[in-house]
Amino acid sequence: MNLSSRVGGIAPSATLAIAARAKALQRAGVDVISLSVGEPDFDTPAHITAACIEALRRGETHYAPGTGLPALLEAIATVSTGRNRIPCSPDRVIVTAGAKDAIHQAMQAVLNPGDEVIVLTPDWVSYGPCIRLADGVPVFVPVDPTTFQLTDALLEAVTDRTRMIVVNSPSNPSGAVLDRHSLGLVADVCRDNGIVALSDEIYDRLVYGVPCVSLASLAGMEDLTVTINGFSKAYAMTGWRLGWALGPKPVIDYMARVQSHTTSQAVTFVMHGGLAALTGDQSPVEEMRRAFDQRRRYVLGRLAGMGYRTAPADGAFYAFVEVGGDDVAVASRWLDEARVAVTPGSAFHAPGWLRISYATSLPRLEEAMDRVAAL
Ligand SMILES: Cc1ncc(COP(=O)(O)O)c(C=O)c1O
Repeated sequence: MNLSSRVGGIAPSATLAIAARAKALQRAGVDVISLSVGEPDFDTPAHITAACIEALRRGETHYAPGTGLPALLEAIATVSTGRNRIPCSPDRVIVTAGAKDAIHQAMQAVLNPGDEVIVLTPDWVSYGPCIRLADGVPVFVPVDPTTFQLTDALLEAVTDRTRMIVVNSPSNPSGAVLDRHSLGLVADVCRDNGIVALSDEIYDRLVYGVPCVSLASLAGMEDLTVTINGFSKAYAMTGWRLGWALGPKPVIDYMARVQSHTTSQAVTFVMHGGLAALTGDQSPVEEMRRAFDQRRRYVLGRLAGMGYRTAPADGAFYAFVEVGGDDVAVASRWLDEARVAVTPGSAFHAPGWLRISYATSLPRLEEAMDRVAAL
């Protein structure tokens, strides 16, 4: 059977193997503590769910404008201009079926065959595949996870085929947050070479005592940056599949073309939930952030007590731990002997590291750390 070599070139994620084993053990009744998932364990705040249900009852079940409900585009522009300091208007925004869909569309909109895209590693698992699906070539540039400071190595990775650079801060998998100096280096590279930045800021609301600066807020970057964000992490809305991109109008217009021939639009009543999320009570976001912070401190303290070195976990809900050597073997041992599922760093181009998601209740984290400490 004829199959696409483009899709064939995308390997299924290495993370899935351990996650699948963890699930199989759980199904067999084994008490596995899963610290491998990238989603909040909280319920979506009730006022958001209520707004969606009301929209359904009102009959908001028809097509909406392709880039999103006008009120939602307006709300995203307002939040981006206010909180993120990104000069923005609704015509520079597109609402998508999750942040991942926005990333995929942005790659489709910007890249031509053979175009190179710099990806800072450790990196989230879907950037490479999204680049390859757009016939681009990912160029992975390692950043030291223990500092997460960019250096001139970034400049050396730029060639005359470089068209885009992907930045993700706060980072999945490391939880680290890029400082102004590092963001400034990215901005210099983009401005000097006319390169577009894709800045994935899906964890921007989840930072702990450090500022999260939007790349597009730096001088001259608003027309060179496609900012990706969404509802999944801040509002515990992973299953709603709702996200957005904002950026230069030509890129957003091309993304709208892609969307018009693929999903058509984000789901109409789901967008009403998103509108309630952005315009309604923000206190649940802060409550969840505080809970994550408490768990973060606990996990980091326990790991330090066991002698592990970790990346600066200033954001998101991940601790990134240096275990040295064969991280897949270590993750397997944690699963087999401690019944604790984590993700090997190799999945993020960071062999010798493990990603621990602390989006799990404190008692379960305590139990998990006790089990690992007893190994
Ligand atoms: C860095 C990063 N970007 C994007 C996404 C995708 O988010 P969404 O659920 O909105 O598609 C994730 C989810 O794991 C993520 O960690």
